[in-house]
Parts: sequence; structure tokens; C-alpha cells
Amino acid sequence: KKVVLAYSGGLDTSIILKWLKEEYDCEVVTFTADIGQGEELEPARAKAEAAGVKEIYIDDLTEEFARDFVFPMFRANAIYEGEYLLGTSIARPLIAKRLIEIANETGADAISHGATGKGNDQVRFELGAYALKPDVHVIAPWREWDLLSREKLMKYAEDHGIQIDYVKQGKKSPYSMDANLLHISYEGDILEDPWAEPEEDMWRWTVSPEQAPNEPTYVELTYAKGDIVAIDGKPMSAAEVMVHLNKVGGENGIGRDDIVENRYVGMKSRGCYETPAGTIMLKAHRAIESLTLDREAAHLKDELMPKYASIVYNGYWWSPEREALQALIDHTQQVVNGVVRMKLYKGNVIVAGRKSDTNSLFDASIATFEDDAGAYDQKDASGFIKLNALRLRVASRLKKS
Ligand code: ARG
Ligand code: SIN
Repeated sequence: KKVVLAYSGGLDTSIILKWLKEEYDCEVVTFTADIGQGEELEPARAKAEAAGVKEIYIDDLTEEFARDFVFPMFRANAIYEGEYLLGTSIARPLIAKRLIEIANETGADAISHGATGKGNDQVRFELGAYALKPDVHVIAPWREWDLLSREKLMKYAEDHGIQIDYVKQGKKSPYSMDANLLHISYEGDILEDPWAEPEEDMWRWTVSPEQAPNEPTYVELTYAKGDIVAIDGKPMSAAEVMVHLNKVGGENGIGRDDIVENRYVGMKSRGCYETPAGTIMLKAHRAIESLTLDREAAHLKDELMPKYASIVYNGYWWSPEREALQALIDHTQQVVNGVVRMKLYKGNVIVAGRKSDTNSLFDASIATFEDDAGAYDQKDASGFIKLNALRLRVASRLKKS
């Protein structure tokens, strides 16, 4: 029996590693991914080696994450419940995919993860795993063991010779956090009171709008088929785009969010997020679409967007409905080409200009308030309005009689 464990090298997954060996008497393969969380991964290798793991996978998935997951999602303008840019949600299907690939490579029949039994992440990991390998066994220690408090975990670590100084994370944090190229999230501790404002030193990626520079920063984003392919004229990969926008966004106090959201498993949960690049990308993408997308295509996308966002939030990335929606969305993006000029200023993301040499549907000669030289016949509007008013007039007559 062999298990592939999603392993961060932190205290929780180190305990899981030990626990799997004891409870299941199985061989454990560890998998640690770089998805842009900004942490050294080599310590995870050393810890896995010290724990006697023979097959250790450490993969840089940053580019794949940005190119094949984040960018496709931003073509949809996806936001969950009007606020959440899905930073954690979109990373889980990639982790699931890699867990299964490694299981297949190493001949493992099971996977394991450190998500609690109360959240969305367990659902996302496991739906992804089952979609990609229908007979896989899933071991979710948090749903099986009785180490449900911090003290019990610490005691287990002590009894089994696991070092407690594992809690690395630079400065020590009381929050449950998750980070990748798209966002960093904070849950738990004082945030469990929805009325309590987070302390300023919780935020790690952004300055507060109050502390942001008094001068704005401008960036020019070049779009090809709905994706950013260059910044200020310089071609960049998907991951490079996100690194750059996270930096300038963070410096200008952009991308903080503080919300109460509905988890798929039924409870409400309060979370804080920093998503600098994503906040800029969403606004800019809508700006280039506003110029290049047909009205009905754009409105159809807007109707489907909440559905798409729920699909991603709830963990159904690897599903026929997500793939069908993606095909539709990607089809609309053929024409989404051009440049958007963005002004970043004290937490604000402002569109300063947009243009498309090849695909602009904006026709100044039609829209003008001046003489349009016959491009639009005002008289046509009379019949248009009359016919559309017909049912309103019929109903109105009925009300009066
Ligand atoms: N509530 C967010 C979500 O469901 C963030 C979850 C953060 N995950 C974590 N393991 N801390 O997508
Ligand atoms: C967890 O339960 O592991 C984190 C929160 C979530 O998945 O929603």
C-alpha cells in the first residue's frame, strides 16, 4: 500500500506523514508544489528525507497554474458571491491533478491531504482526484483522527519526535493561511468575529491605501485572445504577468478584501484576502471586453459567470459543465485583443484608456453627439420604441378599465 501526500513541510502535514505510516502501515510519497506561495521548498525536502520518505516530489507548477488555471478563469470574469476572486479554489484542481499523476507514476493507490473536515478544500481535492482516477482511495486524516485541538496535535508531535519549530512562516501568524500566485488568504483567530476589523499587521502582500504613494502608477496591459501577453510593451508569460501585477498592485494598496462567504459544506465563514494582480486583471479584462465583445455575447457571459464561479468554488473544475462553459467562454475571446491603460492609486484600480486596432466595435462616427452623416437614422428609433412599447400599452389599458 502506497499513499501520495500533499505535503507542505509544516507541522500539520508532518504529523499526517507520521500518522499515515502508523495507522495504515503504508509507504508515503510526498508531493510539495511551488504555485507561487513565496516559500522556500527545500526545507520540505529535508524534512521528508529526515522522516524516511524515499520518493519525494518537489515541483514548480507556477507557470502551469497561471497559464492553465488562473488565466482561463479570468477570461470568464469569475467572482464568487460578488466579491471573492477564488484564489484558493482555483489552485486545488491543479494539486489534485498532480497528486493523481504522481500516484500513477509511483504505483500508489491512495492520496492524502491536510484539509480539515469542515471546509471547501477537502471537497475540491477529492472531487478532482475522483474525476481523474475513479478508483483512488482518499485518506483524509482530519476526518478520521481525534487530534482535533492544537494541544492534541502538539502532544502527538512531541510523543512522536516531530519538531515543533516547524511553524516557520517568517513571522508567526495566528491565522489559517493559504497562498499562491493569485492570493493569500486569512481565516480563523480574531476573524471568527465578523465585526472585528483585522489588525493592520495581518496583511502581508499590500500596503494599506493610506500608506500607498501619493503618485499613481500606470500600467499598459496588452491582450491577445483575452489573456494579458505583455506589460508596458514587454512580452511576459502568464506567471510573469501575475508577479509583476502583484508587485505594483501591492505597492499601491490594491486587492484587499474582507468578506463573509458561504462554504459549499453549508457554513458561513469569514475570510480576508489579498489579490493584487487579480483585482487589476478583472477590471482590465472587462475594459478590453467592453470595446471588443458584442453586446449579447458579453451579456451571455455575464449570465453564465456566477454559475462558472460556483463551479470553481465548489470544486468541479474537472467536470463536463465547466469544460462546456470554458469552450463557450474561450470562443468569445477570439476578438478580445488590444491594450488597456490602468491607473493604480491608493487602493483604486482605474481604467485610464482602452484601444484595439483590430477588434474595436466602438464606432465614434455612429455614437457621436455631432452630425453622424447618415450613419444612424433617428427615425428608425420611433418604430423600434413603439413596437417594444406595445405590450406595455396593452397592459396599461387593461389596468385603467
Ligand atoms: N475560504 C476560501 C476558499 O474556500 C479560502 C480557503 C483557504 N484554505 C486554507 N486551507 N486556509 O476558497
Ligand atoms: C480547511 O478546512 O482545510 C480550510 C478551509 C476550507 O477548506 O474551506
